[in-house]
This record gives sequence, C-alpha cells and structure tokens, in this order.
Amino acid sequence: MNIQEKRITTAVLVIGTGGSGLRAAIELAERGVDVIAVGKRPKADAHTSLAAGGINAALATMDPEDTWQQHAADTIRESYLLANPLTVQIVAEGAERGIGDLERYGMNFAREENGAISQRFFGAHKFRRTAFAGDYTGLEIQRTLIRRAEQLRVPILDTIYITKLLVRENTIFGAYGFDLEDGTRYVIHADAVILAAGGHNRIWRRSSSRRDENTGDSFRLAVEAGGRIRDPELVQFHPSGIIEPESAAGTLVSEAARGEGGILRNARGERFMERYDAERMELSTRDRVALAAYTEIKEGRGTANGGVWLDVSHLPRKVIMERLPRVYQTLLDVQMLDITKDPIEIAPTAHYSMGGVWVRPEDHGTDVDGLYAIGEAASGLHGANRLGGNSLIELLVFGRIVGEAAAKYSNQLESQRRSLEAIVEARSEVDALLACQGSENVRALQRAVRDTMTEHAGVVRSEEGLIAGLEELDSTEDRLEHLGIHPDIAGFQDLAHAFDLKSSLLAARATLEAALERRESRGCHNRSDFPDQDESLQVNFVWSPGRLDREAIPPIPDEIAELMQDVSTAGKLVE
Ligand code: FUM
Repeated sequence: MNIQEKRITTAVLVIGTGGSGLRAAIELAERGVDVIAVGKRPKADAHTSLAAGGINAALATMDPEDTWQQHAADTIRESYLLANPLTVQIVAEGAERGIGDLERYGMNFAREENGAISQRFFGAHKFRRTAFAGDYTGLEIQRTLIRRAEQLRVPILDTIYITKLLVRENTIFGAYGFDLEDGTRYVIHADAVILAAGGHNRIWRRSSSRRDENTGDSFRLAVEAGGRIRDPELVQFHPSGIIEPESAAGTLVSEAARGEGGILRNARGERFMERYDAERMELSTRDRVALAAYTEIKEGRGTANGGVWLDVSHLPRKVIMERLPRVYQTLLDVQMLDITKDPIEIAPTAHYSMGGVWVRPEDHGTDVDGLYAIGEAASGLHGANRLGGNSLIELLVFGRIVGEAAAKYSNQLESQRRSLEAIVEARSEVDALLACQGSENVRALQRAVRDTMTEHAGVVRSEEGLIAGLEELDSTEDRLEHLGIHPDIAGFQDLAHAFDLKSSLLAARATLEAALERRESRGCHNRSDFPDQDESLQVNFVWSPGRLDREAIPPIPDEIAELMQDVSTAGKLVE
C-alpha cells in the first residue's frame, strides 16, 4: 500500500472534537490564534451529543437562594472530599459565564414563561440548578459549538486518528496520526496540544458510550508522552442504562427521568430507595442509586433480566414529550416500549471517568510542557462521585481557560525544538501494527478487556477479583503479539481499533491497580472487603506505569466549607 505522509503546522492542536475540544478551539480562534481540531468521530456525532439531561450553573432562576458557593459545596460534598477545591471553585464561579457564552453563540435553552432559563433538579443538588434543552442538552451544545467554530473558520478534521503525541525533552511539539478513510499519515507540528479525547468508560461491557468512544485514548497518549493519571479507579456507574437489546445495552436513560419525578421499583414493586436514602429517594446521589439498584439485583429482588424498573408513566404525557423526548424516542426505537404507559427496565451502566489525566487546577496544564487536558480526559472536579450536569459546565468553563492558557503558551514561545527520532518512532509504531498478520482479532481482544473489567471492576470490587482481573489482563496483553490488522477498501478502522485496544489495556491496568490500592469504600468505589470509608485515604492516587503515588488534597475555603452538610453513608449497603 502506498502511504502518504502529510505535514501540517499550527499554533495549537486540539485532539477531540466534542464539547471541550470545540470550546477550547473557539477560545483560541476568538483570540486570533491558529488552531486545528482533529477527531476520530464525525463532529456532529461526538460523544458530547449523547449528554442528555443538563448543565449546571447557580443562575438562581428558579431558586433565588442559590449561589456559586452552594454549587461548589454540593460538588465537594458529593465528591466524598476527593475533588480539588480550587478546580471546583473555578467551575462553580465560572459557570454563569459559561452559560452566557452558550447564549452568545445562540444556544436554545428551555425557558420559563418570563423568558428566564428553566432549571431542573438533578440528584444531590440543594437547589434547581440544571439548565437544559429537553433531554438533548449535549446535542444542542454540540450543534451550537460547531456553528460557532464554523463562523470562526476553525478547521475541524474529524477523520484523523492520533496515535502518538510528539515530545522532545518533556516538551510537546505536535502529534502523529492517520486518516481513517484512506490511511494518509499526518505529522502535525504544534506549539501546544490540548487533549480532549474523552475518558475510559467504554472498557466495561455495559456502558453509556458507544463502541469506539471513550476507549482510554487520552490516558495512553498522555502517559506515553510523560503524563500521569489521577484516580483512574473512580468511574461513575450511572444507575439507569437500558438492558435490552444486547447491541444497545447500557444506553442511557437520563437522570432527567428521575429529576422530573420518575420512580424506581424492584421486581416486587417495592420503591427500594426508601431503604437506601429515605430523604432524597430517587434524587439521591448517583453512586448510591447505582449501588442500591445493584444490591436489589444481586440480592434477588431484580427482574428476570437482571434489572430494576424506572417508571415515568404516572407523569403527564406533555411533561414526557417536552422534557424527556430522547428517552421516549430511544425506548420506542430500540424496544417498541411506550414509556408513557410502561416502566423501563434498567441497570447500572459505566458512564463517566471521574479521574483522568493529571492536570494543574488553574490552567489544566499537565506534567508535559505545552500539553493540556480537558473535559472527561482531565481530572480534579468530580472526586468519587460526579454530580449530574457538572461535566457539561466543566467543558464550557475549562474550554475557555485552557484555550486562553494554550494561546499564552504559544504566544510566549521563543523557539521550539523538534525530534526526528520521536517522529520515526511514531511512524514505526503504525508500520509495525500494519504488518501484523496474526490470527488474533482486535474486536475479540477488546471484548476480553471488557469482560475482565465487568467481572472484576464493576460497581462492587474486591481484592481477590481485582488481582484476578490483573492476571486476565496479562494474558490478554500476551495475545497482542498474535494480532492481525486488516485495513481494507472501506478504510483504516481496523488499525484504529488496534490503537483503541492499546489504550483500553493501559486504562484497564491503571484502573485495576488503583482500585486494588484504594482499600476502602468511597463514592462510586465499593470494596466488599473494605466496606468503610478510610480517612487516611482521603487522597488522590496518581498512577504511571509501575508506580502509584498519593497526592494530598488542598483545604476547602471557608466560604464553601460552611455550606457543606455531612456526607451520611447510612443505608449505603454493600452486599
Ligand atoms: O443522566 C443524564 O442526563 C446524565 C447527565 C450527566 O451525566 O451529566
């Protein structure tokens, strides 16, 4: 095959064309800085388009007592004290401006009759703070950001798969990749690189991500470049993923369904949240609702398919049609189920990487000079339990900040040294994979990773299971030697899947090793052998190959701390 290699030069390269990447690119373009965004999925269909129920900001349109300090307090409290207070403060304080940016770009929010932006309840928020556009909020944001990026003429190349970051002496100078359609190679020189390529929740079998997204790409790219991963074990399982059909298992039923008054029941018809969080019931935190559903199923009170029921059929049809249109349509499409009449069978689904690439709170710079990470790729905001609606606002706030930081970095750079050796290494890696003619199929190995993570690192974990998971991972890695890669006339997807697999293996190892070390139960991380929270583990874990460090968490500012209520763990049952 005759492969070409193209060279592109830009001031800032953004990897990922979802909301965080686009928002950063917009900031750069508005500042007159040369920027290119590349991604592996069609931009209109980036993962952000799946985000459903809403985006948080203390706008106080519904509850005038709300403040950014209360938003910060709720976020830190529900992170089980693992969120970085400065990161949280930056997001909560900057949230109103983030919503203002979206309005400036023409976003259509749901509004009250007086024209104010509507805000709904989401789990564990003290006030109604979640702004929305039906239950298509992420899609509407993605469309809005694409429109704005196009107005600014930001080049968005959404068939380019980045295989390696190019680094010399711990300083970034670009990235290497290939075109998914025709295999053309790309050497992209850049002063700064922003990693916005998502998290790693697709390495579980039942996930709210689709097959080839959130495969841990950001983790691998950052680690191979010299970065580190913070808290990879802290993965949010959303309580409500659909169970059937198998091909759509894990697809999200938005928390908006509970926010609008949906009720959870087990197979006996019991409203089981009474046992786990009688005060907040279905609007308890995600970790608790997910664990409650898991426990009901595990203890034999689940449905025959291994689920529980989420019922919205008592809500007025108009509410469902206006506020839950995607849930309505999805269930009709995949199950021929009319949710205005019948309950939905659901079970926990891997949903969000709350850990991610280690970044500084103030500008999301990483351990590598000129490399930034943002959105689900980054870490610091969510700790051990993410509040629904916080990820969309995070990408708006940090998109602006990281865009500004990368612009400043590029503008101040006096010179840059590149490394031919780094380019040759990146090129050889792709050549070597393309030469693989073994009998192992990439998809089969991806499934093996998902099986391992599902069996051993799901909602509830144990020492024995995690060790078994690491052993299984070793044997899956051994099988890599016998991989066969077969690009064909349809494109270079098989090569992309092989890189996805490498990323998934690294992300899985980081997750299992950190989960093993976190010998406690905290938020999303439930250890059946360590059911209590351990105060000495109120630290972040920072992972790199063969190493796991503990990082202290800075103190919480008084104005936020005084608004935090106790985190009760009563009713937080483990099998
Ligand atoms: O349930 C949802 O609509 C998800 C929202 C989120 O994860 O922020």
